[in-house]
Amino acid sequence: MPGRPVASVLTLGCKLNLADSESIAGRLAAAGYDVVDHLCEAEAVVVNTCSVTHVADRKSRRLIRAARRLSPSAPVAVTGCYPRSAGTAAVEALGADFVAGTNENEQAELVAKLAAAAPARGRAAAVPRPATLHTRAFVKAQEGCNDVCAFCIVPRTRGREASRSIEAVSGDIEAALARGAREVVITGTQLGAWGRDRESPLAPPDLIAGVLARTDVPRLRFSSLQPQDITSRLLALWGDPRLMPHFHLALQSGSDAVLARMRRRYDSAGYRSAAARIRAAVPDAAITTDVIAGFPGESAADFDATIELCEDVGFARVHAFPYSPRARTAAASMTAQVPVSTRKARMARLLALAGRLGETFGAGFEGTVRPVLWEAQRTTPEGPRWHGLTDNYLSVYAQSPEPLAGRITPAALGGPFEDGLLGSVGGSW
Ligand code: F3S
Repeated sequence: MPGRPVASVLTLGCKLNLADSESIAGRLAAAGYDVVDHLCEAEAVVVNTCSVTHVADRKSRRLIRAARRLSPSAPVAVTGCYPRSAGTAAVEALGADFVAGTNENEQAELVAKLAAAAPARGRAAAVPRPATLHTRAFVKAQEGCNDVCAFCIVPRTRGREASRSIEAVSGDIEAALARGAREVVITGTQLGAWGRDRESPLAPPDLIAGVLARTDVPRLRFSSLQPQDITSRLLALWGDPRLMPHFHLALQSGSDAVLARMRRRYDSAGYRSAAARIRAAVPDAAITTDVIAGFPGESAADFDATIELCEDVGFARVHAFPYSPRARTAAASMTAQVPVSTRKARMARLLALAGRLGETFGAGFEGTVRPVLWEAQRTTPEGPRWHGLTDNYLSVYAQSPEPLAGRITPAALGGPFEDGLLGSVGGSW
């Protein structure tokens, strides 16, 4: 019996792209394809690209070319941020048959074009769908950003802010749960702006409350917010145990002078006070962040202020990035670019700090029992171990005679192991 045709959906970039790829994969599956998430010979290909840095541009170009080479007669569609920054003609020159932007309608149209160009005509042997269970799904609630951070290309690639309705987000969450997800991460370019573009403006607490009321999602994360979004109305919702105690608040810098030059909408005092509000309302919460090392004009004292703020907040994870100038952003033409060697040295300090802060946060939970959503087995120097995440985003490794993928169990947390803690399944919380 002929098998279903294979569609390969390849993803670069951030959680927003993961959310878009899940939605594209869902549409392709409904159109009759077996969808895989790796590069292979396929009947239809979607490359979901990123353009956040020059390196991301290069990876996007390489992936489009590789997809074209591997599936010479298949239609190749390209979406994501690269087409907006490089232009449609440049993407077509790499071998793309169809090019689309990042909003829902454009991506729905893209899938229709693929299905028309490569209808489900079957093949001699079906390529089996990979047996991976996506325990964590990403769902997009908002697109675009009206801010103009000096370092960021994303407002150009994702356009103006546009919110999806609570019903649409809830529908996607239910669909993800039906596919086997146990946790959903709601994402957006500027999630704190959700609802303000609606005729009767709404705010993130309306979205969260609406999703909790309309779905049976067992674990919900909301990624990410800015300090000004951390209101008492928002925090009050965390009384619902389905909302995970985890807040991602991008910091970028702990220096007020640098934050002002970056055109961020908060200062260091505002950031500290948002973190304190979170700690008071949700004591075990993980606070995670992004930091840029070596933004133009960043002095040694500015950087020290960043280190001090990170230590004071006690982040569970710090994603550190060396500043990299991006054409067509204000920061690229700023004088006083920090020498690359200094950016590298500061990056090394940030990575060391991130490691230490992560260990300290984890050590605070040794000897406690927390709920873990188990994702998959990982190879470790001690042999295969099940890996999962606690509600407060700790990475946990455990042995189990039974498969754990997709299960939420209590786990007693022990000492440090790999990038997190050892755990043993059992106990109660
Ligand atoms: Fe990349 Fe676009 Fe996300 S530039 S990081 S895919 S918003």
